[in-house]
Amino acid sequence: MTFPDSFLFGAATAAYQIEGAVAEGGRGPSIWDTFTHTPGTVVGGDNGDVACDHYHRWERDIDMMVDLGLQAYRFSIAWPRVQPTGTGDFNPEGIAFYRGIVDRLVERGIRPLVTLYHWDLPQALEDNGGWLSRDTVDAFVVYATRMARELGDAVDVWATFNEPWVSSFVGYGAGAHAPGHASDEEGLIAAHHLLLAHARAYRAIKAEHPDLQVGIVNNSHTPRPWDPSNPSDQAASAHIDALANTMFHEPFIHGTYPAILRPNTAHLTDWSFVKDGDLEEMKGAVDWFGVNFYASHVVRHNPRKSTAVSEVATLADGHKAGANSPWPGDEEIEFMPPPGKRTAMGWNVDPGALHAHLVKIQRETGKPLYVTENGGAWEDVLDGEGRVRDDERVSYFHDHLGAVLAAIEEGVDVRGYMAWSLMDNFEWAQGYAKRFGIVRVDYDTQVRTWKDSAYWYRETLRRRSLLP
Ligand code: NOJ
Repeated sequence: MTFPDSFLFGAATAAYQIEGAVAEGGRGPSIWDTFTHTPGTVVGGDNGDVACDHYHRWERDIDMMVDLGLQAYRFSIAWPRVQPTGTGDFNPEGIAFYRGIVDRLVERGIRPLVTLYHWDLPQALEDNGGWLSRDTVDAFVVYATRMARELGDAVDVWATFNEPWVSSFVGYGAGAHAPGHASDEEGLIAAHHLLLAHARAYRAIKAEHPDLQVGIVNNSHTPRPWDPSNPSDQAASAHIDALANTMFHEPFIHGTYPAILRPNTAHLTDWSFVKDGDLEEMKGAVDWFGVNFYASHVVRHNPRKSTAVSEVATLADGHKAGANSPWPGDEEIEFMPPPGKRTAMGWNVDPGALHAHLVKIQRETGKPLYVTENGGAWEDVLDGEGRVRDDERVSYFHDHLGAVLAAIEEGVDVRGYMAWSLMDNFEWAQGYAKRFGIVRVDYDTQVRTWKDSAYWYRETLRRRSLLP
């Protein structure tokens, strides 16, 4: 069983996680610079000041992608690098940096998949209210349109936002990510504004370049009820599904939010931040959906859930236990231990859930899908021979690619698979302690070393099929 000829195999990264050079080339500060330099926010006090130094090493990093045989590379543009304060003047040096990357990729036969927003909001916009303000929606549309104008001749697959669930519910709701607010209502407001910004940017980009394929990348939480025959557990699972998944695609397909969302969160907000016409604007504003898949969840209804349990739930999401939960309205929902082995993040390995998720999202949206991220962190060890024998990562990729192939064979329109990540990098609130790369990065020397999984991936891409 082989992958279709048109299926794109690649790897993914994000600007703040790899670039470094935060004060070079005219880049302005982002909310992640501010957040990481605030004590107590990131494991080990780490920050993205240097990261993988990709800003200075991008040419060699592209050579490495060529050696790996990648057909596609998904990366993000740092908004504050191309427009330092998020409004007003653009920075030619920043734009030239991404133009250089895109041209080199195309020249070397690698398809660029660009994400416009992977969490690094210009700090000046946050100072003006960030994603709680509609001004940020307007600013994003100007930025997105400009980038489409600059790079639209060479990049045809565009994502507006990466995981708006995280930006809103972890950044504004839980407080575990930048900008570090902890308010259920703010999480919902930020989510709505991100979705509106996607819709408006979609239309603006299409007006500029009707041929571009514009989508949005969502993270998948694939909840299942603890007791599938218990209606309360089913309701708990439906609530998490509405917040994690449906809320982030239904508006673009049907122009509605999931019906249970407002009643389930009415004690937290009156939803007056949704203005007349917003949902109509969202309807139809998407060409494809990105699926970032890592793990699955099992939830149940528990009216006596303790705070300790809710912290465990937050940790199980891989996010630092913040002052608040990233699931508005989850007061009586408890996250139970999910099936499968655990990665170094504590996330479970459940490839069957990826298959089920792809089938579900295809059924609910009818749109083409890309697996825009999939992978895992393990305690990699560089052995005496300079090898990283990351067998667990190899089996993870093998089994998840098998799930993708099974979905394709059942008729799900999955167009590509991007391994997370090309190389070890800054894992947000977990700092450099968690390594997701198929290539190891030595942060003292910036030496890149292929892990066994990189060799395996190269071979799989060459063969375009999976060995048992
Ligand atoms: C999804 C995010 O998009 C990415 O930035 C992150 O590193 C991975 N998840 C792993 O947590």
